[in-house]
Amino acid sequence: MLDNRKCVSSDGSDSRSSGEASFQRAARLRSVTIVLGAAIAVAVLGFASRAGAKPAADDAAGEQTYKSNCVVCHAADGTGSATGKALKAPDLHSDVVQKMTVAQMEAQVSDGKNNMPPFKNTLSKEQIEGVVAYVRDTFGKKK
Ligand code: HEC
Repeated sequence: MLDNRKCVSSDGSDSRSSGEASFQRAARLRSVTIVLGAAIAVAVLGFASRAGAKPAADDAAGEQTYKSNCVVCHAADGTGSATGKALKAPDLHSDVVQKMTVAQMEAQVSDGKNNMPPFKNTLSKEQIEGVVAYVRDTFGKKK
């Protein structure tokens, strides 16, 4: 009788420990999923912040922004369209323009000046940085 009970109790503890083992397996699986999810999130965030931090890297985006927002007045080659000339838009190759700092140009595109409209409501900060980088790279004097 006693021996029997011992057997039962040892069986019971066995099944309990195997239950614990499968619980631990499940917990490990869950933590692997969490780690994987975190790794993916970090990778996505890292990519997004890198794209934002380097406006030079997305010159194509800057060019696109220029073509859809600035060409009307400044023309594709930066010298100024008929409209731009009528509004007294300067040639973007000119020294006056190229001597501006990045910050001055970004402020001008953002806030506008005289006949040039402000773009802060239509373009994001990143787009303004991108289009200014494009203007400087494309129309600036190459050193
Ligand atoms: C509606 C016409 C118009 C559009 C659109 C326009 N500009 Fe201008 N831009 C002007 C005029 C006019 C000036 C001259 C402003 C002044 O100094 O009186 C100017 C000046 C500039 C200057 C030189 C700053 C200065 O004052 O000498 C830069 C750089 C410039 N624009 C960039 C851009 C960029 C980049 C875009 C597109 C996001 C853009 N512009 C869109 C009309 C325009």
